[in-house]
Amino acid sequence: MNVLLLGSGGREHAFAMKVCESSRLSRLFIAPGNAGTAQFGTNVALNPTDLAQVYSFCLENQIELVIPGNEDPLVAGITDYIENHAAADGVKIKVAGPSAWCSQLEGSKDFSKAFMGRHSIPTARYQSFELNDLDAAADFMKTLEPPYVLKADGLAAGKGVIITSSFEEACLTLKEMTDGSKFGKAGEVVVIEEFLKGIELSVFGVSDGKDWKVLASAKDYKRIFDNDEGPNTGGMGAISPVPFADAAFMEKVVNRILKPTYDGLVSEGHPYKGFLFVGLMNVGGEPFVIEYNVRMGDPETEAIFPRLKTSMLDLLDAMADQKLNQIKIDLDDKTAATIFLVSGGYPGDIEKGKTIALPGKIEDNQWLFQAGTKEVGDEIQTNGGRVIAVTSLGTDIPSALDRSRKLASEVHFEGKFHRTDIGMDLMRLLS
Ligand code: AMP
Ligand code: GLY
Repeated sequence: MNVLLLGSGGREHAFAMKVCESSRLSRLFIAPGNAGTAQFGTNVALNPTDLAQVYSFCLENQIELVIPGNEDPLVAGITDYIENHAAADGVKIKVAGPSAWCSQLEGSKDFSKAFMGRHSIPTARYQSFELNDLDAAADFMKTLEPPYVLKADGLAAGKGVIITSSFEEACLTLKEMTDGSKFGKAGEVVVIEEFLKGIELSVFGVSDGKDWKVLASAKDYKRIFDNDEGPNTGGMGAISPVPFADAAFMEKVVNRILKPTYDGLVSEGHPYKGFLFVGLMNVGGEPFVIEYNVRMGDPETEAIFPRLKTSMLDLLDAMADQKLNQIKIDLDDKTAATIFLVSGGYPGDIEKGKTIALPGKIEDNQWLFQAGTKEVGDEIQTNGGRVIAVTSLGTDIPSALDRSRKLASEVHFEGKFHRTDIGMDLMRLLS
């Protein structure tokens, strides 16, 4: 089987590694890929959101399965586009991801909040406002306790959320949204919601439109500095599984959130196919949805996939062919700890092109997933903010972390930075 994987992050390196474990794979192409994915297949210079270009590539290279790594092609409608064109042309190309309609769960905060409302899925109280209605927005904020949570409706690469305790700053942010100086088009509608106080986690599901299963839990660390300080990033590290997501908590997640989500989509005529990433807040033992994402997370994938023993190609194939009931999700009980090594200055301005020195040998159950890297002659150089995700398995969080910290210290590039407290909040909760 020939496979096309879309994306260029650590998540896609992890996907490439897992897909290559299957003897059914003939050729793997990654668009655009990075120096890490190049170890597993052929990187190709395609733009994942240029749907016609991606489809032509699939025809020319007899691609049977497309794996969209990030949300942009999904929200742009890649699944519908490829499947419709393939059906018209009499070829079979499967896409391991949801339709454009379902992808609005991530593509529009207003859409996802309304969906949760229709299906009584627990989430923060909210209202949406057009930006010509700022007085109404301010009036609604007055009914909320600070801090205020303001979300740009559309995709904003994880940067569309402003949380502030100051009413004045919240009003100023709204005003900046109106003139397009903040978030551009993504901010034309704003969701204002109640602040949920608790501890965040992510739960991942897989589904084929008929059946669905829980894949795993993970915790991401979004701020740049220790103790969750500084600006938001794409994610600075992850732990999987999350100890407080025990059987009792997961039962609540399944019954109150995953089941009504999947059933709700079916009842609205849009069964969900693909990975679903539910960002949750655990508020005193009760799960609330913060957001849906219609794909795997990055760096959560780099923590979850090393634990996954199920064949990735079998899983993706079953997802596309409605045979998920034949697949067993088999996860290693060990804990995975992922620490992201990032470029100096990230998430602000960074310098690319720094030479990366990797350790000669890596122990078993350890991985270096490359993200912002590229091959230049014989070397690998930095090529983005997040550079390498270091993952180790261990019997518990401290042992997995110790191993990842040691391995992180053996990777060198100018300006290298990482958080030193990944997982420590979870260890404190356990002690
Ligand atoms: P989102 O893009 O919706 O995931 O929001 C980004 C981050 O903002 C989340 O990961 C949370 O840390 C925080 N956040 C979003 N909504 C809320 C909320 N209602 N209460 C508290 N924190 C929130
Ligand atoms: N780690 C958060 C995300 O992938 O959106």
